Amino acid sequence: MRISVIGCGYLGAVHAACMAKLGHEVVGIDLDHRKISELSAARAPFFEPGLEELLTEVQATGRLSFTSDMSAIQGCVVHFICVGTPQKKGENGADLTYVDSALSSAMEFLSAGDVVVGKSTVPVGTAARLSQLLEEVQPEAHLMWNPEFLREGHAVSDTLQPDRFVYGVNTGSEEHYGVEVLDEVYAVPLGAGTPRLVTDLPTAELVKTAANSFLATKISFINAMAELCDAAGADVTLLADAIGMDDRIGRKFLNAGIGFGGGCLPKDIRAFMARAGELGADQALTFLREVDAINMRRRSRVVELTRELLDGSLLGKRVTVLGAAFKPNSDDVRDSPALSVAAQLQLQGAVVTVTDPEALDNASRRFPELHYEKATDVAVRRADVLLLLTEWSEYRDLEPYQVARLVASPRILDGRNVLDASKWRAAGWTYRGLGRP
Ligand code: UDX
Repeated sequence: MRISVIGCGYLGAVHAACMAKLGHEVVGIDLDHRKISELSAARAPFFEPGLEELLTEVQATGRLSFTSDMSAIQGCVVHFICVGTPQKKGENGADLTYVDSALSSAMEFLSAGDVVVGKSTVPVGTAARLSQLLEEVQPEAHLMWNPEFLREGHAVSDTLQPDRFVYGVNTGSEEHYGVEVLDEVYAVPLGAGTPRLVTDLPTAELVKTAANSFLATKISFINAMAELCDAAGADVTLLADAIGMDDRIGRKFLNAGIGFGGGCLPKDIRAFMARAGELGADQALTFLREVDAINMRRRSRVVELTRELLDGSLLGKRVTVLGAAFKPNSDDVRDSPALSVAAQLQLQGAVVTVTDPEALDNASRRFPELHYEKATDVAVRRADVLLLLTEWSEYRDLEPYQVARLVASPRILDGRNVLDASKWRAAGWTYRGLGRP
């Protein structure tokens, strides 16, 4: 099948490569020429394990190409909209400029029978509005919403073997031309048993925001428990293990620490609240305000604990932050809790060095005032305190005895609760976790 993917950012680049891997002929479109030339040379414009190998593999088959010319979508049957929906500047709602302009610039090249499939995360009601716009210009094309649930760091496998497919269609039933077409696109994973649900358009849009809100709530719940554990002298990691053994709760996403960040969860819960307000249903989501507040409190808590570990003063103290990305196996620093803490510490007078295996270029563009050092052993040298804020395996595997020889003072704050406290203490370190005695 001939497929176009409009928008080659994180979602689109991975989707285009994966659709080609499934055997389709794919063209990826993006206005950013730099991105197009990188992708055309089989280079990923961001760090994602397995993506460059996949790009190289599928480009060799001749089934995948990239261009900035929208007219290249002519002749394709399915058009995936994969552009970003960032948070509006100074507001909580989602900025839909890219979605709107993707559809309006694609419309003139669509033919009867084409299927436009939205994958971007949008406020509920967007798909119905876009469907109407499409109807006016090309009434014989169809619009569907097929949200994407991929996680950074696992994007290729999440796209090729997703937990489920959700198809939103305006009939709300399988009696829709697009369902058959999308089934053909996803024939391989569907054949391997991936479940698929057909819904109306608003339900499909809500599935995505509801899923992300649930995940954010789960993380903030365990972080609220960490606050209580700190107050009561209990251990949140054991608490999470114990409650997670109940199947109805589950252990995943119960890792207490510095909180969630990234390009999705924070902005999606805020956009969801803003949309609920527009719909007159804001009360339904007031709890998300608390989820957000608990999450932001984690960052201040780390700053306070660092001050405590440094005997009450940050002034002139050398702080080394291990990890800049919002999570490991990613170079994404959007709303990174680690960098937010690093910047606050620096503002309060500490001398901060940040290290990360992949994210330093992005980090230094966002926070040029911080000092960066790629080599871990250089970054930790003469530090008064270490903060482990992104749990890359190289930091989890640090040898406490070896690192102790490099630092000025053996003090560590484990912002992700991933280190073996007794091992670090045995090596002479003052160890602090979050919500651990
Ligand atoms: C998320 C959703 O998981 C994905 O389904 C959606 O498509 C996009 O948003 P992603 O942003 O890649 O994916 O990261 P995710 O793995 O969900 O982690 C989000 C944040 O939560 C990270 O900062 C992570 O460190 C944090 N987190 C996660 C915790 O603090 N504790 C946990 O137990 C799990």
